[in-house]
Amino acid sequence: MFFTNKLINAALMAILANNMLLAAASDWVAQQHVLNPGQLGQDNLEQWTKTKKNVVLIMSDDQDATMESVSYMPRLKQHIIDKGTHFANHFTTTAICCPSRVSLWTGKQPHNTNVTDVDPPYGGFPKFISQGLNDAYLPVWLQEAGYATYYTGKMFNSHTVWNYHSPFLKGWDGSNFLLDPGTYSYLNPIYQRNHDPPTQFHGQHTTELIQSHASELIDAAIGSGKPFFVAIAPIAPHSNIDTNDGGDPVMTEPIPLDRHRHLFQEAQVPRTANFNPDKASGVSWVANLPQFNETMVRYLDHFYRQRLRALQGVDELIEKVILQLDDARVLDDTYIVFTSDNGYHIGQHRLPPGKECGFEEDIRVPLFIRGPGIREGAVENAVTAHIDIAPTIFDIAGIELRQDFDGSPLPNIPSAVPGHIDKQENERQEHIAVEYWGTAIAEGEAGGFDGNGQIVMSNNTYKALRIHSRSHVLYYAVWCNNEHELYDLKVSCFAIRTNSESTLIDFCCIQTDPHQMLNIFPEYLSDIPPTALVRMITRLDALLMVLKSCKGETCRKPWKVLHPDGDVGNLDDALDSKFDSFYQTQAKVAFTRCEPGYIISSEGPQTAKQYRGDLSWSHWS
Ligand SMILES: *[C@@H]1O[C@H](CO)[C@@H](O)[C@H](O)[C@H]1NC(C)=O
Ligand SMILES: *[C@@H]1O[C@H](CO)[C@@H](O)[C@H](O)[C@H]1NC(C)=O
Ligand SMILES: *[C@@H]1O[C@H](CO)[C@@H](O)[C@H](O)[C@H]1NC(C)=O
Repeated sequence: MFFTNKLINAALMAILANNMLLAAASDWVAQQHVLNPGQLGQDNLEQWTKTKKNVVLIMSDDQDATMESVSYMPRLKQHIIDKGTHFANHFTTTAICCPSRVSLWTGKQPHNTNVTDVDPPYGGFPKFISQGLNDAYLPVWLQEAGYATYYTGKMFNSHTVWNYHSPFLKGWDGSNFLLDPGTYSYLNPIYQRNHDPPTQFHGQHTTELIQSHASELIDAAIGSGKPFFVAIAPIAPHSNIDTNDGGDPVMTEPIPLDRHRHLFQEAQVPRTANFNPDKASGVSWVANLPQFNETMVRYLDHFYRQRLRALQGVDELIEKVILQLDDARVLDDTYIVFTSDNGYHIGQHRLPPGKECGFEEDIRVPLFIRGPGIREGAVENAVTAHIDIAPTIFDIAGIELRQDFDGSPLPNIPSAVPGHIDKQENERQEHIAVEYWGTAIAEGEAGGFDGNGQIVMSNNTYKALRIHSRSHVLYYAVWCNNEHELYDLKVSCFAIRTNSESTLIDFCCIQTDPHQMLNIFPEYLSDIPPTALVRMITRLDALLMVLKSCKGETCRKPWKVLHPDGDVGNLDDALDSKFDSFYQTQAKVAFTRCEPGYIISSEGPQTAKQYRGDLSWSHWS
């Protein structure tokens, strides 16, 4: 444990499964063929096609990694989790659909796409287009590398029946997109196939439709004779939104397929310490939320069950996809990625159903991958993010990584790029840069944030850092009103003997503040902060300063910006007391205003000072 015992008001004992503690070892052999299809004759082209692997990416919408939704998906478990690797520390860089998806498809932090919202002027499909990203995202790059590419489901928000053709999304050999205003309508969805006009399907369940669209596209992919990429993005378990009566859109709980309506009658939101707590938590508007009464808690549980039920259609879709690939005998040559765009909260920290926050519930995302050379039933603990997905698919496809990727390939996935060096867990970056601009929205009929029907909170703008170093697991956030949050999420484990013969060893783990209930930023403590805490915060401030405007390599190796000599590669190195005075004089991340978008002039200092070595440093300080 990191800070003094006095600060730790709750310690939780848990026995974690051994495999969570053991790093996944790599036991695959990297393939060394990389050929350029344009330069090949017919025989070689066939050879090239054979060595290329396919990728199928299935992405649910708003699915949590912390409220146990995955454990209600038996087919996901059977076909993907048990057959592949669980990336147990996977995060989104921003907890909202469209910005998160743009990050995933481009391999870039939201501050580098500047698609930061779901609607214009700061986000949505029109902003994706105006930022020039229609020419610079994953499917376009995959097509250039000889892949056939297909997509069905929700691509972006504000991708509508009015603007879908101006211009058409590039990069897809076949597509069937969900469009607004029917994207989130479970029973009256609007789909738009290739360049055809959109069709609204009255009374047909969106998940049933996407199952058949996916099946059609996979047939086309298999028939293409090329290596293929297929993305399937159903909307479950996102809230239902209908605008059919002409009124304002209302976000209600998701609607499952009829055959799943009666499942899980007993399920309820896990009653973790942060669920509807007696004492308010968080900062800014979160700290002012009222506690839910019993009626509302019953509604939250109902909302939760509707999500689990809506996910059953996705679970069935997963099985159909696997069986179809298997029947066509391409399953063994195909990577299957299952993830979601962002996480979700229901009642934690007294929050009504929704996302957009930096808490674990919102930024942690499920990620499971199976495929040739990937360890079965393994757990990978390296810190990974959505910006790593495009680089990973590049690696699988044998395409040289782009310098402007802010992420890097996931560990323990075979690469088809010659000379690729797989960075093992302890060499990878230990941080996730989380960023958010704008509003937070209450979904469902939870009475609004303040109990008075107000459902949109503005000033939900913050920059945060999630760190998993060898010795520290922390969440640090600076809000646009300059409030700070710091939570210690460290797990300390030690081996214990579980029988008298001393043959069985298990692990006993203590997690300091897993539910982010104790803000240990000095301002919020009644005691004088320990030196170690003050020292830590100076390092976190400097790291956040670099990450909030990083690009490409500086996002992947931020410590190198602060220490160009390369002698500091991680947080533990930076904590050396010899750097104390250097870090104390750094400017801090601060805002001058709360903005709904990425307005640099309101975001305070932009750059950090660099360390120039002991002598020169003491000389110019
Ligand atoms: C991001 O986009 C918004 C809206 O177009 C614009 O006002 C802002 O200046 C952009 N920010 C940056 C850093 O380019
Ligand atoms: C519970 O809270 C909701 C939302 O604030 C309110 O509308 C309702 O009247 C409350 N019910 C009871 C029994 O207090
Ligand atoms: C939101 O931020 C703006 C600009 O910083 C400020 O003027 C306004 O009072 C804030 N609103 C709330 C509800 O805090």
